[in-house]
Amino acid sequence: MRGPHEVKTVAVLGCGFVGFSWGVVFARHGRRVHLYNRPSPSLDSVTGRVRTALEFLHGEGAITADEVEAALGRVRTFGELDAAVEGADYVQEALPEDLALKQRVFAEVARLTPADVVIGSSCSGLRRADIVQRVEHCPERCLVAHPANPPHVIPFVEIAGDGASEAAKEAAYALMEAVGQKPVRCREVYGYVLNRLQLALIQQALHLVREGICDVPAVERALTDGLGLRWAFQGPYGVEELNSADLTEGLTKYKAYMIEGFQNLGVVEDYDERFVEEAVAAFRPVMEGRDHDEYLEWRDRMIVRTRMLKDAHAREDER
Ligand SMILES: NC(=O)c1ccc[n+]([C@@H]2O[C@H](COP(=O)([O-])OP(=O)(O)OC[C@H]3O[C@@H](n4cnc5c(N)ncnc54)[C@H](O)[C@@H]3O)[C@@H](O)[C@H]2O)c1
Repeated sequence: MRGPHEVKTVAVLGCGFVGFSWGVVFARHGRRVHLYNRPSPSLDSVTGRVRTALEFLHGEGAITADEVEAALGRVRTFGELDAAVEGADYVQEALPEDLALKQRVFAEVARLTPADVVIGSSCSGLRRADIVQRVEHCPERCLVAHPANPPHVIPFVEIAGDGASEAAKEAAYALMEAVGQKPVRCREVYGYVLNRLQLALIQQALHLVREGICDVPAVERALTDGLGLRWAFQGPYGVEELNSADLTEGLTKYKAYMIEGFQNLGVVEDYDERFVEEAVAAFRPVMEGRDHDEYLEWRDRMIVRTRMLKDAHAREDER
């Protein structure tokens, strides 16, 4: 499989929320990027979105003005799949979560590319084994490379696919690291790692509000002024290490309390339209007058600044 330094050109298939952002990731890290989307008119706006994202990163001091122009110079758009994957050393698929479409495109891309080109799917809930069902040419280089959204802001990516070869998974992992992402490898289970953690939390967030235990702003504050401040620097295992003398004590001393909690937290089996309307109304003040797009831009800005702080500390620790 092609190693990260051999990957000079990346084809990104599908340029919606996730695809255009993958384009930013690869282009800012020196790769030529072929962005493919249909219907092709959507392509007209894709380069603009890439430019806006790169300029945003420049505005935050994450990249220089020269890097913005250099990255843009590496991006090309394509309306035809065969032209988009021609010369690609890695392919990142980000098409809608539609199994038949992904099956068709994976079969086609595998036919069009050499056997040492890894093909990664951004899919959130589909199984790799299903996606590659129609692939005849070396299906073992097809895997899941599931990002957090948007990947140019949040670097976490999950490399999975139980039937994919070890070499393909290693190559995808190494490539992701080379382009500044923070990969993990995991088994192919529903939700992988990130969404399983997130679903557990969302479940409780809905339950707390539905049962009238607290309101929506209280849930948000518990994360943004509470747990979330730690979570950019340590996960639950790190938290337990510091909540006690050490992790061993944390996992044993609080075991009974935690097990009781796991069994009695309450679950949300369903919720109705009325709950959605009430939650939306209760959430509005949390946005402090920002509309959806302003809220998104503010979120991205805060995350990029947090990442720069983390990177600066990592560099300090290295010295
Ligand atoms: N949005 C998220 O939060 C998120 C996070 C992680 C992973 N994912 C996964 O990433 C993938 C893409 O999600 P998204 O949110 O970017 O979707 P999206 O709908 O925003 O983007 C899909 C893009 O593909 C294009 N497209 C549709 N049919 C096509 C075709 N036949 N040929 C070429 N292009 C076509 C669309 O025009 C659109 O630009 C999905 O598998 C999704 O599960 C999404």
